[in-house]
Amino acid sequence: MSIWTPSSWHSKPILQQPTYPDQDELKKVLAELKNYPPLVFAGEARSLKAQLADVVNGKAFLLQGGDCAESFSEFHADNIRDTFKALLQMAVVMTYAGGVPVVKVGRIAGQFAKPRSSDTETINGVTLDSYRGDIINGIEFTKEARTPDPKRMIRAYNQASATQNLLRAFASGGLADLHQVHQWNQEFAHQGEATKKYEKLADEISTSLKFMEACGIKASTHRTLRETDFYTSHEALLLHYEEAFTRKDSITGDWYDTSAHMLWIGDRTRQLDGAHVEFLKGVKNPIGVKAGPTMKPEELIELCNALNPENEAGRLNVIVRMGAGKVGDGLPKLIQAVQKEGLNIVWSCDPMHGNTIKSSNNYKTRPVDSILTEMKEFFQIHKAEGSYAGGVHLEMTGKDVTECIGGSFTITEEDLSSRYHTHCDPRLNADQSLELAFLIADTLKEAQK
Ligand code: PEP
Ligand code: CO
Repeated sequence: MSIWTPSSWHSKPILQQPTYPDQDELKKVLAELKNYPPLVFAGEARSLKAQLADVVNGKAFLLQGGDCAESFSEFHADNIRDTFKALLQMAVVMTYAGGVPVVKVGRIAGQFAKPRSSDTETINGVTLDSYRGDIINGIEFTKEARTPDPKRMIRAYNQASATQNLLRAFASGGLADLHQVHQWNQEFAHQGEATKKYEKLADEISTSLKFMEACGIKASTHRTLRETDFYTSHEALLLHYEEAFTRKDSITGDWYDTSAHMLWIGDRTRQLDGAHVEFLKGVKNPIGVKAGPTMKPEELIELCNALNPENEAGRLNVIVRMGAGKVGDGLPKLIQAVQKEGLNIVWSCDPMHGNTIKSSNNYKTRPVDSILTEMKEFFQIHKAEGSYAGGVHLEMTGKDVTECIGGSFTITEEDLSSRYHTHCDPRLNADQSLELAFLIADTLKEAQK
C-alpha cells in the first residue's frame, strides 16, 4: 500500500484542474500559502464531526448552504451577514417547528473553485478557457481574465480569512442570540408566505424566551441561547490550494485540511482511484461526497470504505443529488447497500444540482417545485427504507435574488433578469429558502409521531 502524504494525490489521475501557464509563479504562490495561518483549527473540525455523529444517529439534522460560487466582486459584509442570517432563520424553523437540533455548515469562506462541463467556452466563434471560479480565473470573456492566475489563490485566501473572521464574530458576538430571532428576518419590500409564517414563529419563540427568563434561564448564563456553532465548508476541488493548507495537528499528530471545517468531493471528481479521493482519504476533517444519478451501489460502498475505513460516525456525508423524479430509481439501492454493509454515514439531499434547466429566455434556473419535490422524495424513500434522512445541502442566499423560478412569492421566467447575480448556479433566495425550511420542519415533526 502506498503511503498517504498531503501531496500523494500528484501521482493520481486528476480532473477539473486549471493549467497554469506560469509554473514558477505557481510554485512561489504555493510556498507562500504554506506559511499562512490556518483558517480553522483541528479541534473545531473534531467538534463538527461529533455533531455529525449525532446526525448519523438520528438525533440532529444537517443544514449546509451558501453560494454556488463565492466571488471577489460580491465580497461584502452585508452578503456574509445575510447568508448567515438566512441559515440561522432556517435552522431555528427546523429546531422549533421540527423539534431537532440543527448542525449549521455554510458553503462559505472558501467556496471558490468550480467544476465545469466543458474545458472551453465558445462565443461568436471565439474559444477561451471556461470560467473555473474566482480562485482560478475571471468570469469576463477575455483571454486575460480567463487565463488561470495562481495569485488569485492568495486573494481567495484573504477573502476566506476575512469572511471566517466575520462569521466567528456573528456566531458569538450577539447576532446569533436567540433574542434576535426577529432581526434575522429580511425586510424586503414584498413579503412571501414563508416570511409571514416566520414572523409568527418568531413571536412564539420570543414568548417562550420570556417565560424561560422568568424561570431563570437567561442568555447571560446559558451560552446556547446567545451563541451558536457555525462551520464552514467548500468543495475540495483545487488540490494545490487544499494541500497548502493541510497541516499536522499538534495535539493528535493527524493531518487536517485547515482551509475549512468540512470538505467535499464533487460528483465529477469522485473517481475511486483519482486524485480527489486520494487527497481526502488522508485528512481527518469531516468530509462529503456527492452522489448523482450515475452512482452505483458497489461504487458507493467502495468510496465509503476508502474514505471512511474505520466506519466512524460523523466522518462521511453522502450528498445525494439525483433530480426530482429520479430519486426513486437511484436512492433505494444505495440505501440498501449501505445498510447491508452497516456503514455509518450522514445522508443528505442536494435538491439543486439535479434540477437545473434553461429558461425559455436563456437563463440557467431551477424550479422551486422540483427542488421541493426532490426533497420530499428523499424523505419518503428514507422512511420507506428505515433509514434516517439527515440533512440538506443548498445553494442559497439571504438576498432577494431572482434566480430560481416559483416559490410562495412567485418568480416567473420574465422576473429572472431583474436580480440574477450568481457567478455559477441559480440560488434559492431568502424567501424560497425559508419555504424549504418549513417543509423540512414539517417532515421532521411528522417523523417523530
Ligand atoms: C456544486 O455543489 O456546486 C456542484 C458542482 O455540485 P456537483 O458536484 O454535485 O455537480
Ligand atoms: Co453549484
